[in-house]
Amino acid sequence: MQNDEKLIIEGLAGKRSLSGAIEINGAKNAALKVLASSLLFKDSLRLTNVPEIEDIIKLIEILEDLGVKVEKEEGGYFCKTNNIDNNEISPEISKHLRASIVLSGPLLARTGRVVFPYPGGCVIGKRPIDFFLEAFQSMGASVISNGFGYEITTNGKLQGAELFFRVPSVTNTETFMMAGVLAEGKTVIKNAAMEPEIISLGEFLNQCGARISGLGTPTIEIEGGELLSGENQVYETIPDRIEAGSFMILAALAGEDIELRHLNSEHLDSLFHLFKQSGVRFEKEKDKVRFRNQSDNFTALEIKTHEYPGFPTDLQAPMAVFLTQTEGQSYIFETIFEGRLNYLETLERMGAEARIIDVHRALITGPTALSGLEMESPDLRAGLAYVLAGIIASGTSIVHNVHYIDRGYEAIEDRLEAIGVNIKRLK
Ligand code: EPU
Repeated sequence: MQNDEKLIIEGLAGKRSLSGAIEINGAKNAALKVLASSLLFKDSLRLTNVPEIEDIIKLIEILEDLGVKVEKEEGGYFCKTNNIDNNEISPEISKHLRASIVLSGPLLARTGRVVFPYPGGCVIGKRPIDFFLEAFQSMGASVISNGFGYEITTNGKLQGAELFFRVPSVTNTETFMMAGVLAEGKTVIKNAAMEPEIISLGEFLNQCGARISGLGTPTIEIEGGELLSGENQVYETIPDRIEAGSFMILAALAGEDIELRHLNSEHLDSLFHLFKQSGVRFEKEKDKVRFRNQSDNFTALEIKTHEYPGFPTDLQAPMAVFLTQTEGQSYIFETIFEGRLNYLETLERMGAEARIIDVHRALITGPTALSGLEMESPDLRAGLAYVLAGIIASGTSIVHNVHYIDRGYEAIEDRLEAIGVNIKRLK
């Protein structure tokens, strides 16, 4: 059982009064994968700019259980990887962490065996793992399902293979890019995902001896080789584009003068494009963006989530809060996950005019005033959307299940308080 910590928010009732600066942290979905890649290293590696969030803590627990020695350092971690003595991924921890699936590739490639449970994580649609199982088999491994999870084994080394994924999948691309590093011969991933976190992982692995080409394109090729060496190498986690986007949406909604710092604005073209179309004013530089002098006359938008560089599904729920404040009818088409629109029922209870058409599509008509509500985060990103809705609403909102939000946003209440949000955490 998770503790029911809750956030209590006194809403701004439509006032545009937030000001100050927020520093964007390192990307959850980059740091998690580089930590997982420690299984490819014969000696050690060091990571910096790692966010202090629940998902990272859980992944480290699993890695320690597998034999990685992890030391906490200022801003990051040092991992010693010369003694990987377990290849069974702990079901207790991994059932809460979908990202743990990425351990399967490097662990199998290194030890010839991996046992892992059906992966958990945020409940956003079906989230199958069929691509993983198929690709392991294509690389010569045998897969046994035992009702609780899977045991995958190889006779000797994994074999390089040509893999085609029906849709570009983030964790899938990362898992097989890592598996390919220690496989025999060449692995080709077709219809690969192109997210910046994947490029960043691949570039770091190359720096440590891997031979990966085609990063950021739909075809990635990996020449297999020996264990990597991370001595004297440091991975600096790239800025979290989803965290940056979430705070940008808040700044558009309620910022008097807000600057977001230490981000990579090139990773957020899709959001800037929508902002421009809607009439949001922003001053963008490479690593920061400032929101001030808003006109408050925003026009409705059509949003279609898409693999990078399209609009990220992880910003879909926060963006819906913005759409409740735009003039006219907006349309959301969630193409990546089904079941990622249910949070709209809660926004409706706050006063939004939202209609779910089917598991992928919804309409929002605005602008509507929102009023405070007691609500339960259903997952990480919808939870953050509730916080944003509570901030612009009138009256008090209470957001339960903060542990979901803590999975991806470090010290959320402190950072929001610093720009003027009236928010408290109750344990
Ligand atoms: N899919 C399959 N079979 C598979 C794998 C994926 O059908 O074996 C489908 C999924 O059901 C989905 C599509 O492929 O329809 C794409 O999903 P993907 O595999 O890319 O998602 P993921 O790798 O599980 C990562 C992020 C998510 C983010 C998605 C999409 C991590 C740990 N998670 O998930 O992040 O929403 O990519 O960008 O990197 C979050 O941070 O809140 C989060 C959920």
